[in-house]
Amino acid sequence: MGSIYPIVLYFALLVDVILAADFIAKDNILLNCGSFDAKTTDSDGRNWTSDNGSKFLQSSKGSFRASATTEAPDVGNIPYMSARIFHSNATYSFPVSPGRIFLRLYFYPNVYSRSNSANAVFSVTAGPYTLLRNFNASQTAKKLDAHFIIKEYSINVDGGVLTITFIPSPKSFAFVNGIEVVSMPSIYDNDVGANIVGTSSPFQIDNSTALENLYRLNVGGNHIPPTQDTGLFRSWYDDTPYKFGTEIGFTAIADPNVTITFPKSIESYTAPVDVYATARFMTPDSMVNLNFNLTWLFPIDTGFAYLIRMHFCQIFFNIDKINQIVFNVYLNNQTAFPGFDVVALTSSNGIPNIQDFVVILPTSEDPQQDLWVGLHPDTSDKPQYYNAFLNGLEIFKINNTDGTLAPSIVSN
Ligand SMILES: *[C@@H]1O[C@H](CO)[C@@H](O)[C@H](O)[C@H]1NC(C)=O
Ligand SMILES: *[C@@H]1O[C@H](CO)[C@@H](O)[C@H](O)[C@H]1NC(C)=O
Ligand SMILES: *[C@@H]1O[C@H](CO)[C@@H](O)[C@H](O)[C@H]1NC(C)=O
Ligand SMILES: *[C@@H]1O[C@H](CO)[C@@H](O)[C@H](O)[C@H]1NC(C)=O
Ligand SMILES: *[C@@H]1O[C@H](CO)[C@@H](O)[C@H](O)[C@H]1NC(C)=O
Ligand SMILES: *[C@@H]1O[C@H](CO)[C@@H](O)[C@H](O)[C@H]1NC(C)=O
Ligand SMILES: *[C@@H]1O[C@H](CO)[C@@H](O)[C@H](O)[C@H]1NC(C)=O
Ligand SMILES: *[C@@H]1O[C@H](CO)[C@@H](O)[C@H](O)[C@H]1NC(C)=O
Ligand SMILES: *[C@@H]1O[C@H](CO)[C@@H](O)[C@H](O)[C@H]1NC(C)=O
Repeated sequence: MGSIYPIVLYFALLVDVILAADFIAKDNILLNCGSFDAKTTDSDGRNWTSDNGSKFLQSSKGSFRASATTEAPDVGNIPYMSARIFHSNATYSFPVSPGRIFLRLYFYPNVYSRSNSANAVFSVTAGPYTLLRNFNASQTAKKLDAHFIIKEYSINVDGGVLTITFIPSPKSFAFVNGIEVVSMPSIYDNDVGANIVGTSSPFQIDNSTALENLYRLNVGGNHIPPTQDTGLFRSWYDDTPYKFGTEIGFTAIADPNVTITFPKSIESYTAPVDVYATARFMTPDSMVNLNFNLTWLFPIDTGFAYLIRMHFCQIFFNIDKINQIVFNVYLNNQTAFPGFDVVALTSSNGIPNIQDFVVILPTSEDPQQDLWVGLHPDTSDKPQYYNAFLNGLEIFKINNTDGTLAPSIVSN
């Protein structure tokens, strides 16, 4: 068995690509909550408007604006240095075109004049969905070892108005730093249904499904900021913090003469070209690869179903035939896709392929568990190389039957 690797591991992303068309969002609202300036621009050049006297905030009675007392070095001025504080239920209404939107909520736990956000415990609803319940932003930030929190949801809005309500817990208050509403195409919907791992049943992601994005990774690649996404303003992160085991494999970038080309079945705004042009492989040694699984772990809440979207694309010029690299995909130690051969599905290298799976995590005593994502060579048809790879990964929580995305146990 030879090596497929040119063994030059690039980290600068200078990918030779065809420019794919970005999605043009009809609605694109960035609300800088509590800001004293009517208009502000963040470090990425995106423009935010203040919610002061805004038509979106239904009633500002019982709410006030305040500035954060301290600024952590990694926290951007906009939208984090101002907040709106709510001492009673308060609603924002956003008129939007019918269809799906991304809703992003921005929180920076801090002291806001006399209000310390460590004392803020609250719920947030959006239409029929409960997004957060007994949410303590300080606690969540501490758990994630982060200074700020961005919560991203995908919600279908039929009626043309998205209603977001902040509900302080008794004797507490609520706060928010920023609200983003961006229309999006139904790229995660699945009428046929994604296969529920461990069963042969499909799980439909349709208009009634709300999704919360938990992880979005450019596997083997660099961080892609919202302004370099495909018009959907998503962030794609490096996968290294989630790699499990001593064998972390090798990151690789598409050979210069492999051009990433979207097939007709995948809209070019599904993921940035860079996601497909970089990947993490196992080692160059087929024999070594038989002894381990390329594994990632992701903490997730029990008591929910999850949509796992895996992005694949073969990026080496010399891997363009069937049965050169074939591997098994395991989710939570169950076989999600046996004998996966991306070239067999795309008929060539350089062509993106996406695979959606649903994993159901029953309610358990532990509020959280690790989701295991594992890859291992499938040697049954004696492929040319024993290897496996992944280009991108997205993990979404799916709302449960009563429309909630928040765990029933406090701790979020
Ligand atoms: C905030 O809104 C109030 C009332 O709508 C207005 O009087 C005030 O000028 C606004 N402040 C700023 C800084 O825009
Ligand atoms: C932000 O506003 C400025 C000034 O109005 C404008 O020149 C710029 O194009 C806007 N930026 C974006 C990303 O829309
Ligand atoms: C705030 O909203 C919650 C949930 O809808 C409701 O139970 C509560 O009574 C409301 N509080 C007030 C003061 O209206
Ligand atoms: C889903 O919602 C959109 C927007 O409201 C609507 O256009 C579409 O027909 C709905 N799809 C189904 C299957 O109901
Ligand atoms: C919120 O979490 C912080 C950090 O864990 C904690 O100190 C604080 O007591 C919590 N607040 C409430 C009201 O439980
Ligand atoms: C693609 O580039 C590699 C070197 O990176 C070269 O060996 C190979 O011949 C090229 N293939 C084609 C079809 O141009
Ligand atoms: C998967 O298997 C590993 C041992 O190989 C075990 O530690 C882990 O708990 C398992 N995970 C799940 C979700 O079953
Ligand atoms: C890879 O993961 C699968 C599913 O958890 C497990 O059955 C298998 O033993 C693992 N293989 C290795 C080499 O760890
Ligand atoms: C998600 O919530 C909606 C609204 O409550 C509900 O109609 C739908 O059945 C829920 N989805 C699932 C999978 O439970």
